[in-house]
Amino acid sequence: MNIAATINDIRHCVRSARQAGKRVGLVPTMGALHAGHGSLIEQAAKECDYVVVSIFVNPTQFGPNEDFARYPRTFDQDVAYCQRLGADVIFAPTAEQMYPHPQRTWVEVEKLTDGLCGASRPGHFRGVTTVCAKLFNIVTPDVAYFGQKDAQQAVVIRRMVEDLNFPMTIRVCPIVREPDGLAMSSRNRYLSPAERQKAVCLYQALETCRRDFAQGCRAANGLIEHMRGLIEGAGGRIDYICIVDFETLEPVETITRPTLVAVAVFFGSTRLIDNCVLCLHQTENNVQ
Ligand code: PAF
Repeated sequence: MNIAATINDIRHCVRSARQAGKRVGLVPTMGALHAGHGSLIEQAAKECDYVVVSIFVNPTQFGPNEDFARYPRTFDQDVAYCQRLGADVIFAPTAEQMYPHPQRTWVEVEKLTDGLCGASRPGHFRGVTTVCAKLFNIVTPDVAYFGQKDAQQAVVIRRMVEDLNFPMTIRVCPIVREPDGLAMSSRNRYLSPAERQKAVCLYQALETCRRDFAQGCRAANGLIEHMRGLIEGAGGRIDYICIVDFETLEPVETITRPTLVAVAVFFGSTRLIDNCVLCLHQTENNVQ
């Protein structure tokens, strides 16, 4: 497995793969890799002949009071993990490579970024879409892989790719969970043991929502209030609980079509997100 630290290096690697007729998959990450990322890399390895994993803690998607400085950086472990899973190359640029001068060009996806995490984290999605557009232009993948845990991010990136005609496909893979249901996240490692125990209430609340829905509850307010009681009862501080259309992310009052239930909750100073999708004919939480 190669490690490319510069844009020239990764372009060279991808060009050689392309000349050999290979289909290129990109898994964009900020490192601190866990089984959620692992599932994306494995999926990419199944569907592509050449798998690029980018590792870049993107400064432009963090607000001034957010955790950019303390975001976990575990590069050596990440390299070993990618190697075990069969990645072909890691693209690990420096901030100077990605942002050599003050950025004057930004990619913004309107409307879809107004609510949910966009409301609590102003500027976050502008940073995400801009860095993803840069990564897509640098790596030129055939397919890029994202996790359903960041459901809004997945919707926003899909729309950016469609609106700007990037010649590639976005694949969104199911959420990977710990045995007790907590969604895998690089930020889980911030939790104290007591917060970690409380944090499972996110999954429990979403499961309760699913059950309420299966029993016929279609009113978003009723579903939200039940979840709110469970999460607050467990000691979580709610940032938002939203029930929105799966594609437009507009709030839904009565559920009649595929609907995203998304939550963001603080445990201590750690903010975690999770979600599930309610469909009238539901299998599991696997949305392609
Ligand atoms: O989901 C993430 O880890 C990041 O938002 C991404 C897509 C790698 C962009 O920095």
